[in-house]
Amino acid sequence: MFTRRRFLEGSLGAVAVLGGCTAEGQSAGTPLPIPELVDARKQNGAISLVAAEGEHAFVPGRPTGTYGFSAPYLGPVVRVHKGDEVEFTVENRLDRGTTAHWHGVLVPAALDGGPHVLIPPGGIWRPVLKIDQPETTAWYHSHPHGDTGRQVYRGLAGLMIVEDGVGERLGLPRTYGIDDLPIILQDRQLDEKGALVYNNGGPSRMMGMRGNTLVVNGAISPFAKVPRGLVRLRLLNAANARNFDLRFADGRTFHVIASDGGYLPAPVGMTSLIIAPSERFEVLVDFSDGKVAVLETAPDDNMVRGMGGGMMAGMMESVGGELLRFEPHSASAAAAKTIPTALVALATSDPERAVRRRRVSLDMGPAMMRGQGAGGGMRMGGGMGPPMGINGQVYDMGRIDFAPRLGDTEIWEVTPNMMAHPFHVHGVIFNVLSIGGKAPASHLAGGKDTILLSEPAELLMTFTQPATSDFPFMLHCHILEHEDGGMMGQYTTA
Ligand code: C2O
Ligand code: CU
Ligand code: CU
Repeated sequence: MFTRRRFLEGSLGAVAVLGGCTAEGQSAGTPLPIPELVDARKQNGAISLVAAEGEHAFVPGRPTGTYGFSAPYLGPVVRVHKGDEVEFTVENRLDRGTTAHWHGVLVPAALDGGPHVLIPPGGIWRPVLKIDQPETTAWYHSHPHGDTGRQVYRGLAGLMIVEDGVGERLGLPRTYGIDDLPIILQDRQLDEKGALVYNNGGPSRMMGMRGNTLVVNGAISPFAKVPRGLVRLRLLNAANARNFDLRFADGRTFHVIASDGGYLPAPVGMTSLIIAPSERFEVLVDFSDGKVAVLETAPDDNMVRGMGGGMMAGMMESVGGELLRFEPHSASAAAAKTIPTALVALATSDPERAVRRRRVSLDMGPAMMRGQGAGGGMRMGGGMGPPMGINGQVYDMGRIDFAPRLGDTEIWEVTPNMMAHPFHVHGVIFNVLSIGGKAPASHLAGGKDTILLSEPAELLMTFTQPATSDFPFMLHCHILEHEDGGMMGQYTTA
């Protein structure tokens, strides 16, 4: 494979240099920032998030303007518990509208924080979320129509953990910040002064905003001191557009235990893992050998195919290299030592129960032109450049694209065009029946809310959450510039 070969030949880019790596075993550079953990049960069930401007130094000593939720950049890790009601207070201190979308949390669409739930500057939004789903790692981020890419890029995102006690019973590592680490993966374009650059025109419009610098929890090539034993990483790809192709420099095996919708039936041993924008995977890594371990990514090769795509791809940054270095302590011993052989039985719907098949085409370029021809009249999405859409139509906040019935099970046949797209649906956890006509790899066989598609797929989903035409659910590509450009639709569950 082209990417892997180029990667292994050693083009690590500028990132490792900035991070100040030194000899093995020595702590140099930046410690991994660990976002504050806010547990709803310790807050009497009330959690406050304030969206505001901040300053954050990606490059030490070079602060740049950012956004954050109750933090200069990103937000706290919010922990909620199944069966509880949690009252959120989201305050907007920005100079433009924002939202707080609970990505991967199953709540009615009116509480979901999509584009229809815009909080104006100075406004406060108070949704009460009834938490009713299995243990998982979800996240939250802003989602205002046409401005999601820029706002998330500036920092409006955070991790969210849903607990139901299963991980504890399974004996999984769960000491936050010690052997249970939030790992928020992003890339950012930084100029010579270390300032954030955002661009949603030209190649960034076509392929999504990418950057020259890899960051983890907002830091460049940080290190984490970990116990000698099993450590759980809650991986989130919070980049606007790029995929991360993860592996350890020493090629060690790690075990995927959970994806977007919660635990897999059994840990899946892997030596490399592709994580697309908005996907989450929880992995267990064994550090009991005491050796320093470097988590790396290959460059991202997901670029537009054909139509001058090669030339465009040449204009895009596609950085590979070091993400994060783990330094096992000799002194401390991790609580968990052995990887469980079984986790949780999969709760899947029966494909036989599907009452309908729907076609969803993720369109850009020529496919959009065909759709526009049929629909009459060219409509542009937000930003500059050719339109993007779903089934040939640019997103329209006033148009309902699909209306499945509450309680129904459906199969969605989703077809990507021009490049691979991370397809996301609000309000459901789905199962992947097939990708390119084949059963999905075992780490993708659990509950999902986002799936990276370079080939057509069949997704099985049951609608359990209410959505109305005033407050519909979104379905979209999670390359945020595609979403802002119009590759989004909406559905109700009447
Ligand atoms: Cu991460 Cu429409 O969401
Ligand atoms: Cu979402
Ligand atoms: Cu896309």
